Amino acid sequence: MKTKQKTVRISIIGFGNVGGGVAEVIKRKREEITRKYGIDIKIVGIADMKSVIVNENGLSDDAIMKLKTGEKPEYVTTLDVIKEVEHEVMVEATPTNVVSGEPGLTHMITALESGRHVVTSNKGPLALQYRKLMELTTKKGKEMRFEATVGGAMPIISLVRENLAGNGIMSIEGILNGTCNYILTRMVEEGLPYEHVLKEAQERGIAEADPSKDVAGTDTAVKLVILANSVFGRDATYKDVDVAGITDITPEALKLANDAGYVIKLIGEVDRDECLKVAPRLVPKDDPLNVGGTLNVATIKTDLAGDITVIGKGAGPIEAASAILSDIIGIYM
Ligand SMILES: NC(=O)c1ccc[n+]([C@@H]2O[C@H](COP(=O)([O-])OP(=O)(O)OC[C@H]3O[C@@H](n4cnc5c(N)ncnc54)[C@H](OP(=O)(O)O)[C@@H]3O)[C@@H](O)[C@H]2O)c1
Repeated sequence: MKTKQKTVRISIIGFGNVGGGVAEVIKRKREEITRKYGIDIKIVGIADMKSVIVNENGLSDDAIMKLKTGEKPEYVTTLDVIKEVEHEVMVEATPTNVVSGEPGLTHMITALESGRHVVTSNKGPLALQYRKLMELTTKKGKEMRFEATVGGAMPIISLVRENLAGNGIMSIEGILNGTCNYILTRMVEEGLPYEHVLKEAQERGIAEADPSKDVAGTDTAVKLVILANSVFGRDATYKDVDVAGITDITPEALKLANDAGYVIKLIGEVDRDECLKVAPRLVPKDDPLNVGGTLNVATIKTDLAGDITVIGKGAGPIEAASAILSDIIGIYM
């Protein structure tokens, strides 16, 4: 247990599902975090597209609740909050954009230039400009942590960096998109066609109204690029990934696979050499990668520890917030 208490002031940029989840978990866990880690986390600024709220002494839970009513302080833009409000960590949770990386890329660069650490769930900037962001992070003597970008609550990046330190990592393969996994699982269970199950997933809020990024494999590809760069030290971008999605998989193909003792899963694979691939693959039913529903899974192949497989919830506001919270704490451990 830490003896000296440290106040860590954070901003939350992007206050949707994940940003709101971060405020919620901090509210729930504040006392426990202070007791266990000696860190008092204060949220000093929050910004979304419509509203900005700031209190340099820490926003009250009431003020955070009322955010959507739109208090307008002197800091009127998101960038003002990042630059002008004194704080240690910027949490970036705006929408992922894999074309330009914006607005997250500018938020991250501004935060680092302003002397803030960055913790993010936003995949776009990392998939496009990983090297540039890391160089700036090092130059500024700060940290950039992004566990929530790959596998949500499921630890991969910190697992490899911390718990598997000293191991050579040969490859990582797994299911990194819960929507695709849900669709394939339901197609097998019900023998129903893709379109039918997609509609069901949309009705249940598991697939988005525009599911294209998930089902075409783009989301998995973006996560693989983050792993390629952060775990394997490669300099990959999204365009380097060989991508196929799940839209052409039929109930007949799933049945044939099933009869032969396999399931079909959308698997992302990355290694330290050339491999950077997303494609539907036959997986033996007794393989650890055969997880159902919206679960994510990854097998990390190492030289000393052998194969390590992690399974967990790849999405969800509280799950992503869990990864963000542990990244914030990790900066000060
Ligand atoms: N949801 C998950 O389970 C999950 C899991 C892992 C990673 N992620 C990633 O985490 C990020 C956030 O996801 P989410 O589900 O929370 O998305 P979301 O609900 O759409 O929230 C995005 C937030 O960003 C705000 N925003 C957009 N542009 C902004 C700008 N220029 N300045 C300030 N705020 C801005 C939006 O404001 P308005 O509401 O005013 O438009 C909204 O509050 C995404 O990159 C996503 O890929 C999500």
